[in-house]
Amino acid sequence: MKKLIIINGPNLNLLGKRETNIYGNLTFMEFFDTVVKKYPNVALEHFQSNIEGELIDKIQEVGFSYDGIILNAAAYTHTSIGIGDAIKAITTPVVEVHISNTFSREEFRHQSYISPNAKGVILGFGLQSYELAIESFISS
Ligand code: DQA
Repeated sequence: MKKLIIINGPNLNLLGKRETNIYGNLTFMEFFDTVVKKYPNVALEHFQSNIEGELIDKIQEVGFSYDGIILNAAAYTHTSIGIGDAIKAITTPVVEVHISNTFSREEFRHQSYISPNAKGVILGFGLQSYELAIESFISS
């Protein structure tokens, strides 16, 4: 059974009430529950933090034993050399995801410290971006 983890960065704990025109009305846990049921053959975990160092600690903790990391580093995507370096340091492949199409938004969201070291990038499909990332790990 593949062992995957979704790691969510800052403010993604507010999904469902945060800028719902961009991020939708579903809470992450509502979405996560349906996804866990949809993929019974995947050992799927979820971790969220608003704190950069906690995200790095989690990436280091899982990054040598899990089959895949699905990472939405949220705003840290655009600023965090530390998270970028953590991805370089580990052996577990990382798929970068975003709910919104960051390229159709402000210019500061076009820069990513995650992408250069990610296995792939999925963005702009709403919460379905996470599911597409899971599918990519199942079929690889
Ligand atoms: C986001 C896009 C980021 O630019 C933003 O800071 C987020 C969410 C997304 O999933 O669309 O918090 O990563």
